[in-house]
Amino acid sequence: MSTVTNPPSVNIATLQRMKAQGEKIACLTCYDASFTRVLEDAGVDVFIIGDSLGMVLKGHESTVAVTMSDMIYHAANVARAARHALRVVDLPFMSYATREQALGNAARLMREGGAHMVKLEGGAVVAGVVEHLARHAIPVCGHIGLQPQSVHALGGYRVQGRDAAGAEAVLSDARALEAAGASLLVIECVPAELAARVSAAVTIPTIGIGAGPACDGQVLVLYDMLGITPGKRPRFVKDFLGQAGSVPAAIAAYVSAVRDGSFPGPEHCF
Ligand code: KIV
Repeated sequence: MSTVTNPPSVNIATLQRMKAQGEKIACLTCYDASFTRVLEDAGVDVFIIGDSLGMVLKGHESTVAVTMSDMIYHAANVARAARHALRVVDLPFMSYATREQALGNAARLMREGGAHMVKLEGGAVVAGVVEHLARHAIPVCGHIGLQPQSVHALGGYRVQGRDAAGAEAVLSDARALEAAGASLLVIECVPAELAARVSAAVTIPTIGIGAGPACDGQVLVLYDMLGITPGKRPRFVKDFLGQAGSVPAAIAAYVSAVRDGSFPGPEHCF
C-alpha cells in the first residue's frame, strides 16, 4: 500500500493562528477520494476520518464495531486525494486501551492511513495515553462531551454537562487533555454556554458538534449535512443540500456559514 505523508497546507500552527484571530475553522468528516476533492475545492480546513463511518457507510447501530482496518482503508482513500486539509483519523473503540497499544495503532494510522493527527475519545482518564503519544511526536485530538464509543456505558446518545457537576467534569477533561499535550479538541453535544467556557479556558482550538457557536470551529458528519442519513435528524444537524441544490454548493454553503458564524444557529444548540 502506498501512503501519502506530505505535510498539509493546513497544520496545527494554522489552526492556532485561526483561533487567535477569531477565524472559524471549517471541518467535516470525509471517508473517500471523490468527496475529498469536493471538500477541498470548497475550502474545508480539516477532515475528520471518523469512526462514524461504521454507521453512515457500514450500517452499524454504533461506532463500536469499527476496526483498525476500516480506519486505515478509509484514511488512505482520503490521503491519496487530499492536498491541503489537515487529516485527523479516529482511533477506533478499544484500540487505545493501553499506552503501548495506542502508540502502535496511532503509528499505523499515520504510516498506513496517512493521518496527520489521531483522535481519541475520553478526558482525564485518557490523559496518560495522550501524553505518551504526544511525547512520541504524534499529534492528538481529544474528544470530550458525548463520547459515542461509550454509548453502551452511557445508556444512549445524550447531551453531556447539563448540570453543574457534569459541566465541571467536561471543563476539567478539557484542561487535562491540554496539559497532556493534545493539539485539538472536539466537543460533542454539550450546552452552548459550557462549550464557550471550555473554548475560553484552553489555548488549543476547539471544534464543536452540537456544542454551539462559540467553539473555534465546527464539524458535522458529511452524510448528515447532506440530509442522506436515515432516521430522525439530530437537533444540531442542518441539511445544507436541500437549499443549495448540488453537493459542491452545499459544502460551500456550510463552509461559508461556519466562517461567518451563522451556523450553528440557536435552533441547533442545546
Ligand atoms: O466519528 C466521527 O465522525 C467524529 C466526528 C463527528 C467528530 O467523531
